[in-house]
Amino acid sequence: DPVATPDISSCGPPDQLPPSANVLTCCPPPSSASPVDFAPPADASSSPLRTRPAAHSAGADYVAKFNRAIAAMKALPADDPRSFAAQASVHCAYCDGSYSPDGFPGLDLQVHNSWLFMPFHRCYLYFFERILGSLIGDPTFAIPFWNWDASDGMSMPAMYTDQSSPLFDPRRNGRHVPPKLIDLDYNGREPRFTDNQQVDHNLRVMYRQMISLSPTPSLFFGSPYRAGDDPNQGPGPVENIPHGPVHIWCGDPEQPAGEDMGNFYSAGRDPLFYAHHANIDRMWAVWKGLDPRRHTDLTDPDWLDASFLFYDEDPKLVRIRVRDVLDMDRLRYRYQDVPTPWTSARP
Ligand code: C2O
Repeated sequence: DPVATPDISSCGPPDQLPPSANVLTCCPPPSSASPVDFAPPADASSSPLRTRPAAHSAGADYVAKFNRAIAAMKALPADDPRSFAAQASVHCAYCDGSYSPDGFPGLDLQVHNSWLFMPFHRCYLYFFERILGSLIGDPTFAIPFWNWDASDGMSMPAMYTDQSSPLFDPRRNGRHVPPKLIDLDYNGREPRFTDNQQVDHNLRVMYRQMISLSPTPSLFFGSPYRAGDDPNQGPGPVENIPHGPVHIWCGDPEQPAGEDMGNFYSAGRDPLFYAHHANIDRMWAVWKGLDPRRHTDLTDPDWLDASFLFYDEDPKLVRIRVRDVLDMDRLRYRYQDVPTPWTSARP
């Protein structure tokens, strides 16, 4: 059977927090109504298409608008499910043991390290983006992606590093500010590469994770995780690298648990999280496009019917299934078309 999020009233204390974390609850604010099932826009062609831009090349108008949207989200009180604080704790709730899968009170629900990784984060970004758009009255608003898989995008996008911006987070690694290039398989040690070598290395890492290690859907998405299974059945190659290393590279090594980006409970507090995950989500789409015949979504009903709960922009509690988010056209968003230089970087 598929994993399902239980009634939010059963959300409890996060029992998988690092000992240093000073957090009592990650649960969403209660809802007076029971969840409604997600429905995509009925008339897709009349609903606006949102194009997510590459963060490093976004123009000043876009950056100003994005700043306005995040500032509005941060200005909402924490008990508003649309607030930045509530959005950030969604990640903690689903990753640090606040929920048990519906029907299995003895187990923790964990959306990482399994085939739920890609679809859970797609849903998370989808509602985050709709909330931002509604806060600025712009239904075409799209979040940016951190294009770390191409040389021009390999440093932290500048819009996030302006200390006066709501996109800034002081809990980051102070040595990893631009123009420092990211190491996509960073393990806590600084590599001794020139910039050219680092770019080359990163492109090979991308080729390895997206092509060599991801020839089939079951390899790409990660291990099955069904109702009643222990969590952490096994990540897919992209969840493993570069997803994990990018988190660690961003977080502050001086913080006890690598906060913010370097720990599940705190990662969503850094606005950069959503740009990192937009590129992870883009990788799902890119992977499908590399070989449309063989690179397909999974067809196992336990994957397709797995479901999560999110608040939308109303805010209304919505139950959304994996099968609802496989088609980006139906969700009315896409990614700016940018080159994928790593497809020819065979290691
Ligand atoms: Cu839910 Cu990048 O982790």
